[in-house]
Amino acid sequence: MLQNNLLIQAAMGQPTSRTPVWLMRQAGRILKEYRQVREKAGSFINLVKNPELAAEVTIQPVDILGVDAAIIFSDILVIPEAMGLPYEMEERKGPVFPSVIQSKSDVENLRIAEAHDLHYVLDAIRITKKELNNRVPLIGFAGAPFTLLAYMVEGGGSKTFSKAKKLLYTHPEIAHALLEKITQSTINYLKGQVEAGANLVQVFDSWAGILSPEQYQEFSLAYIEKICKAIPEVPKTVFAKGAFFARERMNSLSCQVVGLDWNMDIEESKKMLSNKVLQGNLDPCALYGSYDAVKKETINMLNQFGKHTHIANLGHGLYPDTDPDKVRCFIDTVKEYSVTLH
Ligand code: CP3
Repeated sequence: MLQNNLLIQAAMGQPTSRTPVWLMRQAGRILKEYRQVREKAGSFINLVKNPELAAEVTIQPVDILGVDAAIIFSDILVIPEAMGLPYEMEERKGPVFPSVIQSKSDVENLRIAEAHDLHYVLDAIRITKKELNNRVPLIGFAGAPFTLLAYMVEGGGSKTFSKAKKLLYTHPEIAHALLEKITQSTINYLKGQVEAGANLVQVFDSWAGILSPEQYQEFSLAYIEKICKAIPEVPKTVFAKGAFFARERMNSLSCQVVGLDWNMDIEESKKMLSNKVLQGNLDPCALYGSYDAVKKETINMLNQFGKHTHIANLGHGLYPDTDPDKVRCFIDTVKEYSVTLH
């Protein structure tokens, strides 16, 4: 049994003594302790592929920041790699794919990944579970099929992802074939994560916001729903950055938790997503403020969620130049203040 089970209880809609709190991108980015381990591994990708070291950086924020959950240290881009499309991580630039998907035959040449192909992530989960020793739950994750398609077609980050969007407009059948292969791979992978010990899984749809509402339903939500339905064993969180226009539809997804970004009005979201536990949604930039400002913003957020079952988090991942003490201030404020709402 987990000693601190607040996250899972909240995700299941059960009453808790206070609001659980964790942060997207809590592993890595802001901690000097992370940078030391990364140095030892030699590169980001080496670190992702080293289960002992990946487990170590997964647990760091639990020990150093006091969050209520760990999230396995990995990346969403391990799936394209396991399908036969490797990536590189360039310093300050982000991910780059030396080859990209352009045609029907490119999609046909991809494999459907099996859980075993990602044995290094599954080993990292097993080691993390053992070392956490049931202190807090462990979150597994994957990228949403559309967000992975965006990187696989574009070849890296982009402001517009216009190459990826061009595929949807000009060759929707190729896009669907690719999305289907990514979806099957992701299902195999997440099932493996759950078997290895993940207590909840989160699907990151980081580029949801670039699609129209109709496209979002057709090219993204339909595949997310398939994934959610295929993983009945654990609670699931869907975080679709920028998909404010899809909130009503997301209320009927087969997931328990929906993540909100900071553009999504909380009162409005509570009404549109009345079936869902809500996660989020403080602007990561709010953590640049003074301690008093961080406290005030955090309390304001907690008051707006009020009695709606809530998992406190940011509206997107932590930025690398955030002061860990401000992060601790956010976490401690949630822990102290949220008691008054329960
Ligand atoms: O949340 C966590 O702490 C767990 C680890 C995690 C990483 N990436 C580690 C990472 C998670 C959950 C991700 C997900 C991820 N990766 C997403 C979805 C979430 C989001 O932010 O929208 C996306 C879009 C990616 C792709 C990716 N990986 C990009 C664009 C970059 C470069 C820019 C950056 O730093 O985010 C990465 C690299 C990456 N992934 C780093 C880390 C700690 C930085 C690499 C380093 O150590 O320098």
